[in-house]
Formats: sequence, C-alpha cells, structure tokens
Amino acid sequence: MRVAVFSAKPHDRLFLGQANGAGRHELEFQEASLNAGTVALASSVQAVCVFVNDLVDAAVLRALAASGVRLVVLRSAGFNNVDLEAAAALGVAVGRVPEYSPHAVAEHAVALVLTLNRKTHRAYARVREGNFALEGLMGFDLHGRTVGVVGTGKIGECFLRIMAGFGCRLLAVDPQANPACEALGARYVPLPELLAQSDIVSLHCPLTPGTRYLIDAQALARMKPGAMLVNTSRGGVIDTRAVIDALKAGTLGSLGLDVYEEEGDLFFRDLSANVIQDDVFARLLTFPNVLVTGHQGFFTEEALRAIAQTTMANLDSFVQHGRPAHPVSVERLA
Ligand code: NAI
Repeated sequence: MRVAVFSAKPHDRLFLGQANGAGRHELEFQEASLNAGTVALASSVQAVCVFVNDLVDAAVLRALAASGVRLVVLRSAGFNNVDLEAAAALGVAVGRVPEYSPHAVAEHAVALVLTLNRKTHRAYARVREGNFALEGLMGFDLHGRTVGVVGTGKIGECFLRIMAGFGCRLLAVDPQANPACEALGARYVPLPELLAQSDIVSLHCPLTPGTRYLIDAQALARMKPGAMLVNTSRGGVIDTRAVIDALKAGTLGSLGLDVYEEEGDLFFRDLSANVIQDDVFARLLTFPNVLVTGHQGFFTEEALRAIAQTTMANLDSFVQHGRPAHPVSVERLA
C-alpha cells in the first residue's frame, strides 16, 4: 500500500522503516504536517499516516477522499484531530494505536510531579552557577499526600500504580471505574470532591467535546489552595487562560504541562531562533512554578517501536480485510 507519512521526524523514518520489514508498504515520508495547504502531497497514495498535530478536518478529508485515500492511520492513541463523522460519511476508515506504552506517558507525568515538587530544574541551573543556597527549593513529602487522577484508563492506571508506590492516598474520576485502580486503593469520587481534596491532580482523559475545558475557572476555584496540576493528556482539557489567572492569584501552586491547547504552531520543531508569537504560551513560561515539556510523554524507545508495529498492523489489516486492526469509530466521540 502506498502511504504518505506526515509530520515525519528522523525517529519515524527509523522505527516505521524497521517495522515495514522487507518494504511491503511504500512509505512516502513528508516533513510537513497535514492540513488544507499540504493535502496535495497525498495525491497519489491510498493511505495517510498522521500524528497528533496533523489536522484531519472535514475539508482535508474531502480532499483526501477525492484523490483516492481510503485510510487514515494515526501514530497516536488520541484522535481528537480527526473529524470522525466526516470520515465515516466519506467512507474513509480511521485507525489508531490504542496502546503502545502507557508506562512512557505515566512515567513522564511522574517526572513532572517530582521536578515541580523538588524543583530539580532550578537546582540544576543553580548548582552549575555555583549557587548552593536552598532558599526557594523546599518541596513536600509525596508519602501521605492525596493524588487525584482524572481518567483511569491505561495511562491513568499506570500513574496510580506508581503513586501508590510513593504511599499516596488515591482518588479517581472516570465514568467507567477500573477495578485494577480500585485494587490499588483508589476511591472513585465526583470531580468537585477530587479537586477539593487532592494535593496533586493529574489529567489522563481523552479530549472529547465532553472534556474540553474540563479544568476551567470554576474547576480551578474548587482546587485545594497550593495544589499541583499536571496535564499529559491533551491541551484542550485545560482552559490555559484560566490557569494563568489562578497562577497569578497564587491559588494554583504549580503546573506541569506536556501538552498545550495551541501546541500545533509550536511543538515538535526547533524555534529557538524565533520570537514566540503566542502570548498566552509565552506568559506560561515566565512562571517559576510552571514546567512545560513539548509533548514528549510518548517519546521512549519502547513506545516508538510499538507505535510503528501497530501502525503496520493497521495497514496490513486494511490490505487484507478492508479495515484497520484498531479502528476508531464515531461512537468514541461521546
Ligand atoms: P484510555 O482510553 O485507556 O483511557 C482514557 C480514560 O478516560 C477512560 O477510562 C475513559 O473512560 C476516561 N474518560 C473519558 N471521559 C472522561 C471524563 N469526562 N472524566 C474522566 N475520565 C474520562 O486512554 P489512555 O491510553 O490512558 O490515554 C489517555 C490520554 O492520554 C489519550 O487520550 C491521549 O490524549 C493522552 N496521551 C498523551 C500522550 C503524550 O505523549 N503526552 C501519549 C499518549 C496518550
């Protein structure tokens, strides 16, 4: 099958190339991200392979379908960037990688928690300057603290397991309780209760119409004063402007982000010689108690290998059975 691979980085070429074995699929790597301006790059393929910031909206899907594309395969678990209703109406199948390494993302969320708490990012810079003063570096014991997890699917469960190891008290919110999380000692409570009781809130739910701005000004006002908020799910789950207000007011203690609602214009490229035009994002970077990473939660060897293998399985299945091995359907939008 001929496949245009958008937003292709060197690691995509390496891992997809390895998973493609003897070259059963013809992969055309495109550095460009997919959008209305670049969709013409897919004019002679049967499938496109996309990542989190490729825009697969109705207009792009219409152009893809018109040029003969019948399959979109995501190299991600999240699929909020694809208009599933438009895809279904146009007869374009959509596949994703439902699970690759939940450990990769959960462990990154823990890295954000530990760094924000013990301020190792600031300590590193200080020590290199010969400054060994401890003022401003005080943290708190995780042991005995309350951790609230929103979304207890595969990643949320891994995160809870690690936090259970630290001796934390565990709270959870999810429309579907996960027995493995209950076995770890997590107690399912309504969101307002989780927000009011947690010292650390970590978001692991997908971005859907129901979770967009789940953490807005009202939710932030419910949080325990000085609490930590960590988001490794999708940027749109948080209202960034409301979070900035809470940081300025000093009510939110610290913020760890691996995702940002407007990250499509920023992440996955070197902009170090450019002036950042996004004033909301630039403001976030000025806070000493905010730590931002550029959507790297998934970025481990194990995860990249698994993503490449599942992507190939989706392509193989479409060739053999006319549908991807891991399809995404409109029902999942609810
Ligand atoms: P999953 O599908 O296993 O779990 C998601 C859980 O969220 C489900 O249990 C679902 O019932 C729950 N949920 C849905 N709506 C909710 C709501 N309103 N409130 C609370 N819970 C709700 O997904 P998985 O694999 O755990 O991934 C979670 C998210 O993490 C993905 O959707 C994706 O957006 C993000 N992600 C981020 C990565 C990164 O590199 N930072 C990499 C991979 C995923």
